[in-house]
Amino acid sequence: MNDQTALITGASSGIGFELARCFARDDYRVVLVARHLDELKEAARLLHQEFEGIDIVLLPFDLSLPDTPDKLYAETTARGLQIDALVNDAGFGETGYFSDTDVDTEMAIIQVNVAAVVHLTKLYLRDMVARNAGRILQVGSIASFTPSPCQAVYAATKAFVLSFTEAVQHELKQQHSAVTMTVLCPPPTDTNFFRTAHAENTRAAQHPASAREVAEEGYDTLMEGGARSLPTMGAKVNFFTSLLLPDSMLATIMNNQLHPAHR
Ligand SMILES: NC(=O)c1ccc[n+]([C@@H]2O[C@H](COP(=O)([O-])OP(=O)(O)OC[C@H]3O[C@@H](n4cnc5c(N)ncnc54)[C@H](OP(=O)(O)O)[C@@H]3O)[C@@H](O)[C@H]2O)c1
Repeated sequence: MNDQTALITGASSGIGFELARCFARDDYRVVLVARHLDELKEAARLLHQEFEGIDIVLLPFDLSLPDTPDKLYAETTARGLQIDALVNDAGFGETGYFSDTDVDTEMAIIQVNVAAVVHLTKLYLRDMVARNAGRILQVGSIASFTPSPCQAVYAATKAFVLSFTEAVQHELKQQHSAVTMTVLCPPPTDTNFFRTAHAENTRAAQHPASAREVAEEGYDTLMEGGARSLPTMGAKVNFFTSLLLPDSMLATIMNNQLHPAHR
C-alpha cells in the first residue's frame, strides 16, 4: 500500500468504479460510497480480483439525505481514515420537459449533485488545507457548459459544479495551498446514467465513450494537479463549441440531443 486513502462517491458503477480502479491500481486504500451495499460488494470483489491485497472500505450511504455528508465524515474520522483524495462522482439526472418532471426527483438531483458535493468538499478540504496536502476531483459534465433542454435541472447542477470548482481552485492558489482541485467533464459515457435518467432513447446516448477511458483521463489530470479534464475528442469539441455559439443555439443543439423524439 502507498499509505494514501481515496474516498470515491458513486464508486459502485460507471465512471466512479473506474476511478476507484485507478486509485486501487496505484495502491491507494479506497473508500467506496454508494447507496446499495450489494453493488459496493460486487465492485470490491472486482477490485480485489484485479488488485490482490488492496485495502477496501465500503460505506453504504445515501447522499440524497442532507445529513449524509456529516455522517460520512464522522464515519471516516471514527475509523481513523485520513482522506488524501476525495472524488465527488455520485450523481444522476432526469429527462423530460421541466413542466412535466417530478419535483421530488429534481430536489434529490440537486441534493446529490450540488449540496452533497459542496458539503463533502467543505469537510474534507478543511483538513487538506490544514495539512497542505490533498486532491479533490469533482465530476462535472460537458453539460456544465451548455443549457440543456429536457435535462434542465441536471445541466444546471453540473454548471454549478464547474463554477464552484473554478472559484475554489482560484482561492487555493491565492492561499498558496498545495491542495489541488480538478473538474472532470465527461461526454456521454457508457454507464447506468442514461437508464437512470430515462434517456436511453436519445441521440446523446447512442455513441457513448468508455467509462474506463473517461476515468483514466480524469485520474491523470487529477494526479497532475490539472484544473480541468475534457476526456475524448467529443468533450473537447463540445467545450470549444460552447465558447463559439450563443446559449440559445447551444440549447437548440442540446434539445436535439436529449429530446426522446429526436433519436
Ligand atoms: N454517463 C454519462 O454520460 C455522464 C456524462 C457526464 C457526467 N456524468 C457524471 O458522472 C457521474 C457518475 O455517473 P455515471 O455515469 O458513472 O452513472 P452510474 O453508472 O449511474 O453511477 C452513479 C453512481 O452514483 C451512485 N449514486 C447515485 N445516487 C446516489 C445517492 N443518492 N447516494 C449515493 N450514491 C449514489 C450510484 O450507486 P447507487 O445507485 O447504489 O447509490 C453509482 O455508484 C455523475 O455525477 C454523472 O452526472 C456522467
